[in-house]
Amino acid sequence: MKAKAVVFGVIVLSFLTFSLVGIGCGKYRGSPFSSDILRGERDLNLSAVASLGDPEADGIIRIAIIADPHQNYKDLEDAISTLKRVTDVDFLVNLGDITNSSYNMEYDQYLRSHSLIGVPSFVVAGNHDMLGAGPAIFNKVFGTSNLFFETNSYRFILFNSANLETPENFHPDWLLSIVQASTKPVMIFSHIPLDDKERFHGDVKAKFTQIVQDSRVKAVMNGHNHAYLLRYDSGTVLLQVPRVEGNQWVVLEVQAGQYQIINQAGVVVPWQNFKP
Ligand SMILES: [Fe+2]
Repeated sequence: MKAKAVVFGVIVLSFLTFSLVGIGCGKYRGSPFSSDILRGERDLNLSAVASLGDPEADGIIRIAIIADPHQNYKDLEDAISTLKRVTDVDFLVNLGDITNSSYNMEYDQYLRSHSLIGVPSFVVAGNHDMLGAGPAIFNKVFGTSNLFFETNSYRFILFNSANLETPENFHPDWLLSIVQASTKPVMIFSHIPLDDKERFHGDVKAKFTQIVQDSRVKAVMNGHNHAYLLRYDSGTVLLQVPRVEGNQWVVLEVQAGQYQIINQAGVVVPWQNFKP
């Protein structure tokens, strides 16, 4: 009888502990480490390509760029609502780290905010999104993490740079080939900067240098480091987008071989020529 009471007590305690953990961390199906998610969105990056229309119809491409919203979904929703009020963007690119630990419930939580954006929206894979079941969830929800699409005048490439977390989805040769095959100027979106000294060495570093210095590549955007930074390499614009925090975002406007950078405070870089 005493043994039965102990077993019953353990079961009740386990149930309570599991319930409290579940309540504290949000809802999930099965285990937070599985690739099962509650939201029904699938192939969102491909859907964004399909709904892009002609962003150049009015002569200016306006690209909203945000980064690293992990653990900051409230600020993400503030950024989305400000972006909607302040500027009329053609499409949005989220430079990744939408989760902290690639848990399915974090993907579910991010997707609730993503659904509010209201313009074609792309997500780049971040290193935090590529842990455990992350690659499987990402593929399910957004489609392949290496993708390119074109408007009339530009080729845009989304590149999975999480070499340490998902080597099976890290393809520098693919990036180089897609750049070299382009008949249009190119812009690249990567979570990690392509000149990250801690991650990219030897052949990979050489390929990324070749890519950044290619005459076709006009701009490379990255997140990961959480702070705004504008640099140039051989005339290529290297734009590091700040973390979504306290309503931070960037809009890159592109018109006739020129670019302008705007953020939540106004124009940061007035119209400049891209490298020839
Ligand atoms: Fe990161």
